[in-house]
Amino acid sequence: MGCCHHFAPTQGGASSFTVDMPRVTFGRGCLSELGERAAGRGLKRVAVFTDPFLRDGLQLAIATQALDSSGLDHEIFDAVRIEPDQHCVDEASTFLSEGRFDGVVSVGGGSVMDTAKAAMLYALYRADFLDYFGPPIGGGVAVPGPVLPHIACPTTAGTGSETTGLSVLRINQLNCKFVIGSRHLLPDEALIDPACLDTLPRRILTSSGFDLMSHALECYTARAYTHWPKVTDPMARLMIQGANPWSDIHAREALRIVGQCLVRGVADAEDHEARDKLMWAASLAGMAFGNSGTHLPHALSYAITHLVADQATEDYPVAAPFVPHGISVVVNAPSVFRFTACAAPARHLEAARYLGADTRDASEDDAGEILAGRMIELMAATDMPNGIGGVGFGAEDATRLADSAQRQRRAIGNAPRETTLEDIEHIFRHAVSYW
Ligand SMILES: [Fe+2]
Repeated sequence: MGCCHHFAPTQGGASSFTVDMPRVTFGRGCLSELGERAAGRGLKRVAVFTDPFLRDGLQLAIATQALDSSGLDHEIFDAVRIEPDQHCVDEASTFLSEGRFDGVVSVGGGSVMDTAKAAMLYALYRADFLDYFGPPIGGGVAVPGPVLPHIACPTTAGTGSETTGLSVLRINQLNCKFVIGSRHLLPDEALIDPACLDTLPRRILTSSGFDLMSHALECYTARAYTHWPKVTDPMARLMIQGANPWSDIHAREALRIVGQCLVRGVADAEDHEARDKLMWAASLAGMAFGNSGTHLPHALSYAITHLVADQATEDYPVAAPFVPHGISVVVNAPSVFRFTACAAPARHLEAARYLGADTRDASEDDAGEILAGRMIELMAATDMPNGIGGVGFGAEDATRLADSAQRQRRAIGNAPRETTLEDIEHIFRHAVSYW
């Protein structure tokens, strides 16, 4: 099944897709270009977002030295916490409003970049916190217009937030994580320096590596954009618009890199070739899912994050209960792809091949099993938890997990097959352990 077939026109379906991208600079040492790049955009006074763990680290020192050498005034906001919530965004947007900045730099992982995006939004376009989230959680209000110039500098290889217009935030009163998406939240520049991974703890690299793998897999197997209804207002086209030829290109390459480099990069911090490629793959996967959207593994991961009890993960300076995002995604992913394979078997089989599975004698009926098998192989080789059982859940939790996950309506609708509440329960029940 080739691309022409996959994106064949449908009655009433979309006939166009839109790609939004920042300017991207990639390479070892490029973080030191930050000063010139910010000055080149005419910035004079910059807000630097980071978190308390990076505050005294090498990356932030390089970034602030670069701003100093270009004569840029700057102030640091370091109160970003992992899984930012309204309180964190409120603090950050107050900092922005009071500081009279003309630009923003974010140095950190997904939480830092997502907080920077949301802080700019709420500082410039004041609203109730829930207004900008999509239904059924929020008011579905469109982001009204541009925010400040933003240079995003990722320090992990997973989130891809530097190349997306998405901000994932925790909504405490509803005990869930949800996404604000808009092309206005897309950073203007991504400065991607793989040297940031040199000192990244193993568990963080592993978790973010599986996050990036799932981003790519979900883009590649998502509902085709031609299967979403045509929009009447082109400016209202959502970023979760389904798989498309652009997301395919980036997802394929990201999967190839993960297949070749994830186990190597995790096993050996000195393997710069593998780690540098993983950093590139994370951004590629961001370029893909920022223009297609994810689907069930992410939708279901949020239920794991919300309902987890008494779980802690080594290398993360966060109090229990806590499951890192990439782990919450990958523990349910093999079960998801076993469920979705029948809707797009050729794509699932291709994805497995890109990840390194031997598909020479495979038939389309084997697609789900082969893809799940390759993922499980990678999980076992990197000491990931063995399914949702490995993070404290059992089959008896499937109903309440499904109940929480079903609120991620747009992501669930982006799956390649119709997915009911009973289907989600089924997926969780079959995700308890894999080996
Ligand atoms: Fe993710």
